[in-house]
Amino acid sequence: MENIKQYVQENKERFLTELIDLLKIPSVSADSAYAQDVIDTANAVKNSLEKAGCDFVELCETPGYPIVYGEKIIDIKLPTILVYGHYDVQPADPIDLWDSPPFEPIIKNTPIHPEGAIFARGACDDKGQMYMHVKAFEYMIASNTLPCNVKFMIEGEEEVGSKSLSWFVERNQAKLANDVILISDTGMISNTQPSITTGLRGLSYVEVEVTGPNRDLHSGLYGGAVANPINVLTKMIASLHDENNHITIPGFYDKVEELSKEERAEMAKRPYSEEAYKEALDIVDVYGETGYSTNERNSIRPTLDVNGIWGGYTGEGAKTVIASKAYAKISMRLVPNQDWEEITTLFKNHFERIAPKAVKVKVTPHHGGQGYVTPIDSIGYQAANKAYTETFGVQAIPVRSGGSIPIVALFEKELKSKTILMGFGLDSDAIHSPNEHYGIFNYLKGIETIPLFYKYFTELYEK
Ligand code: BES
Ligand code: MN
Ligand code: MN
Repeated sequence: MENIKQYVQENKERFLTELIDLLKIPSVSADSAYAQDVIDTANAVKNSLEKAGCDFVELCETPGYPIVYGEKIIDIKLPTILVYGHYDVQPADPIDLWDSPPFEPIIKNTPIHPEGAIFARGACDDKGQMYMHVKAFEYMIASNTLPCNVKFMIEGEEEVGSKSLSWFVERNQAKLANDVILISDTGMISNTQPSITTGLRGLSYVEVEVTGPNRDLHSGLYGGAVANPINVLTKMIASLHDENNHITIPGFYDKVEELSKEERAEMAKRPYSEEAYKEALDIVDVYGETGYSTNERNSIRPTLDVNGIWGGYTGEGAKTVIASKAYAKISMRLVPNQDWEEITTLFKNHFERIAPKAVKVKVTPHHGGQGYVTPIDSIGYQAANKAYTETFGVQAIPVRSGGSIPIVALFEKELKSKTILMGFGLDSDAIHSPNEHYGIFNYLKGIETIPLFYKYFTELYEK
């Protein structure tokens, strides 16, 4: 086995089968009905790291789901890469919208993935991307080309806020000491244009409850005379954006970093077609904050979105009723410098203040995290760029993503190291959505590119 390309070709079927087996376990961290499956997945990941060649692997117990930790230390004088990923997945619902069952992976071709894609919950986010690291490591061990030390830390609560991982990281700084953190849990521009994610948005996630009368009421007998919590809630929510789609919460933008003209011009150079964007989503027009482009709106600008809203009668037919309560789940994507706890407080105060006297309002924060930006002059970034350039034949473009991996900011705070986000997913892979999939090309290309990161990082580190 001379090189990685050949190794990937020779082991392709096995790499696919192993990933498919992992995808069959429904490790939904949000739903306690799947608790045993989440633990089974942790064990499967542990076994895979042992088999690939770690010297030491363990399941670290936490207040929540275990963290899979593994390592291969070849020489303490060499640099150490800490690989992070997650083995939990989002809930599969709405299940009816899947073309095939979410935990029975199948391979199908798509226009974007003519070489086939694996369809399953977690295929791209993050089992497929995490498992590329296990297979890349297997290759480096098998070919005796591992150039540095490596530690793996794979968690099971990323999709629900990484609470236990925060707990674990705060208590294990020495164990987790490293020179760079490497994560594949983001995307790239396209299969011909790799990109490296240099920014993630922060997040504040809250739930609101509006209570009107103490019981559901006949909407004829009482309608017009008491506050309808659903009417009130929707009005309150609507008031959170003004006519320019700016968020109206006082102080919300105070710490938002405005990018310079030059930085915005640089951003605008990335390949992007608004027509293709609209077509892919079947929308006639885009929508968002006045004065910003689509790429800016979904990366360098903060947002406020209702993720779910419920209350009253939603069954078949009509029921005339004024519900006692109405609810919504609201997420705010934040940009660097905005503090998620501060924003959560601003939201809570504002939401309570704008409620009419006729209702009671309860705001419950769920979870959150800080945003992240990473410079492009670090050796980690350079190593990643060299790796992509070699396997794709073109340089990677730095891109700030709209998604969040809140734990990344905590890594920097607690472990004092930078994170490199080498993602191989595509926006069209439908993560968190029905019919999530991951391209076979992307999976194998990731396995091919990762060892080169190790190689170039070690070389640049030693210089
Ligand atoms: N892998 C995603 C985040 C992501 C995807 C970042 C694509 C950039 C590009 C991660 O699993 C995720 O879904 N994060 C959550 C936050 C978490 C606290 C639930 C998110 O962004 O909604
Ligand atoms: Mn993820
Ligand atoms: Mn996710």
